[in-house]
Amino acid sequence: MSISEANAGTEPAAAAGEFALAGELAIRRMGFGAMQLPGPGVWGPPKDRARAVAVIRRAVELGVNHIDTSDYYGPYVANELIREALHPYDDDLVIVTKVGAFRTPDKAWPSALKPEQLRRAVYDNLRGLGRDQLDVVNLRIVEEAGGLSPEDSIAEPFGVLAELREQGLIRHLGVSNVTARQLAEAREIAPVVSVQNEYNVVRRLHEDIVRTCAEAGIAFMPFFPLGTFTLQHKKDTTTDTKVPQHVPLDAQVIHAVAERLEATPYQVALAWLLQHSPNICCIPGTSSPDHLEENIAAAELRLSETDVKELDALYGGENR
Ligand SMILES: NC(=O)c1ccc[n+]([C@@H]2O[C@H](COP(=O)([O-])OP(=O)(O)OC[C@H]3O[C@@H](n4cnc5c(N)ncnc54)[C@H](OP(=O)(O)O)[C@@H]3O)[C@@H](O)[C@H]2O)c1
Repeated sequence: MSISEANAGTEPAAAAGEFALAGELAIRRMGFGAMQLPGPGVWGPPKDRARAVAVIRRAVELGVNHIDTSDYYGPYVANELIREALHPYDDDLVIVTKVGAFRTPDKAWPSALKPEQLRRAVYDNLRGLGRDQLDVVNLRIVEEAGGLSPEDSIAEPFGVLAELREQGLIRHLGVSNVTARQLAEAREIAPVVSVQNEYNVVRRLHEDIVRTCAEAGIAFMPFFPLGTFTLQHKKDTTTDTKVPQHVPLDAQVIHAVAERLEATPYQVALAWLLQHSPNICCIPGTSSPDHLEENIAAAELRLSETDVKELDALYGGENR
């Protein structure tokens, strides 16, 4: 019997439990990421608009009440699709958006961290989503095109969002792609309710931030949770240099655990995240109705102690 058949009649996304975002917004720990919905390269309209809208509606039917998006996905496209699919929104739906980049016709993602760019982005998100107040806005730190590096202060851009929060345009603030020092700096300025950094079973550079967030009651919402786009630096023995390469979930141990549980490697990756720390909230991204069902069913998957031990050992910290 499949995981979904065993739980027929319930909302699968509920099976992983909830996290109280900012202590007040109860989000299911299995959510949905909207970045895969626009056209290729996260640019332009989807090939099949009706299918994209149906994927969002189905996510909510399956119990998802936390959607991650940005007005720069498309640009504008992901937010328009969410609005078309779900507006007027249910009271319990939490939409987390992000600002800090913009798109150029060559499909690049330059930084947009100047005060006027951030203000415009917040208004664009309000308009695109059709809301008077944004639930959560993440300040996404982007290095490209004069952005900020991991060594830089994020006080100025985060301060701009803190002002917009004071004005009531934003309910809560988060940060994305930050170092531990930048997170601490932001928390001095205003409460941070979520952190969104790259993190998954095969790449765990931000383990220290996951722990800091858990202790502080802050949600950690890993991007690239499926590892599909994760770049690992493997040593090329012929030249003795480190070469970045894409690492899908091809580790033998992930496949072995998946086989034991009659699950897929993607489900194992998501289940590992959910069991790793109670503040981790997943936002797997997909444009495929079948992948959506598969990913959300992972909320019902339970890894044994042996499974967890084997998966934990997969990462030796070599990419820190
Ligand atoms: N803050 C940031 O800087 C940042 C950066 C990146 C992403 N994000 C957010 O994080 C969310 C998740 O990241 P992501 O979507 O980039 O990466 P992801 O969830 O790790 O992987 C998405 C990729 O995996 C494929 N996929 C999804 N489910 C699958 C399944 N069950 N089997 C096989 N393939 C599957 C998708 O293709 P199909 O469409 O074909 O399923 C897509 O190519 C995004 O949607 C976005 O909201 C934030």
